[in-house]
Amino acid sequence: MSKVLITGGAGFIGSNLADRLIKDNDQIVIVDDFSMGLRENIPDSQLITTYQANITDKVFMKDLLLSEHFDYIYMFAGIASVADSVERPYETHQTNQEANVYLLEVLRKYHLPVKKVLFASSAAVYGNDPHLPKLETSTIDPLTPYAIDKFATERYLMDYGRLYNIPTVATRFFNIYGPKQNPSSPYSGVLSIISDCIKQGKTFNLYGDGQQVRDFVYIDDVIDALLLLTKESDINHEVFNVAAGVGTTLNDVIRAYEHAAGKNLAVNYLPERVGDIKYSYADITKLRQLGFKPKYNIESGIAKYWQYINQK
Ligand code: UD1
Repeated sequence: MSKVLITGGAGFIGSNLADRLIKDNDQIVIVDDFSMGLRENIPDSQLITTYQANITDKVFMKDLLLSEHFDYIYMFAGIASVADSVERPYETHQTNQEANVYLLEVLRKYHLPVKKVLFASSAAVYGNDPHLPKLETSTIDPLTPYAIDKFATERYLMDYGRLYNIPTVATRFFNIYGPKQNPSSPYSGVLSIISDCIKQGKTFNLYGDGQQVRDFVYIDDVIDALLLLTKESDINHEVFNVAAGVGTTLNDVIRAYEHAAGKNLAVNYLPERVGDIKYSYADITKLRQLGFKPKYNIESGIAKYWQYINQK
């Protein structure tokens, strides 16, 4: 039984992690401002305490860290919309970088003992470099405030880790999909949007020709990776790609979804999105070397996702 903090715990990844951790009888504290996360995502359990707060609230965060003494800290809170970061670079920076550095600073200043701090970074740090697959050592080219903040925070995690002896690790997430992903914005994960369209019989707006490639990874595999990097290994001060390690075109995703749901998806073809990356997929050798093995391929992952969507 551990004491765990999940910032952004009402969001897609954080709430799925909470689902898994309550099975270990962990005591979980969630901090979320509910700007994107939903209360209904949080499992109903006495093991969970939820605070509606913004991670930029320094007084709140400091008091929480000093009073609770967490074993594990998962830093998932952030403004996930890249478009939003382009519109409001300074404000999103306060959340996506500054607040995270402050959390590390409190750990350093007060010598708080932690077993592991994990920060959720993004494949966005690789930018548009055409070399594929993306390795952790590939060229970094963050093209937006969102990507810059993700990369800078990764570096802070590594440096606070090494300089002040704090166990830290960062994950570069590729395209995660599964239950509890919020489809409400055009910048939501494409699979949550497709699910919503199939369920509601709505037309899906496809930007481009559908031949764009992404590395889609099912949420349960991502949770396995997170546990591997925190509770289940001593790995420290390293960055890991978290993906399935397979590239799939959007057209193939749609076919797999139609097959799983037994329904056709109405598609409206629109011009490519400005700034869209054509091909992105990961090399996950580094994570595999720790013992990671994705359990789902795109067909089985979508089938499981659809089962959830259909029953909701
Ligand atoms: C993802 C991240 C983004 C990050 C980028 C860079 C998500 C939701 N987005 O974007 O934050 O900057 O990686 O690595 O994780 N599409 C449609 N119709 C839609 C929605 C999307 O055709 O309604 C297309 C997009 O144009 C894109 C593909 O589907 O080509 C995937 O889109 P999305 O799920 O937003 O992921 P990324 O573009 O990979």
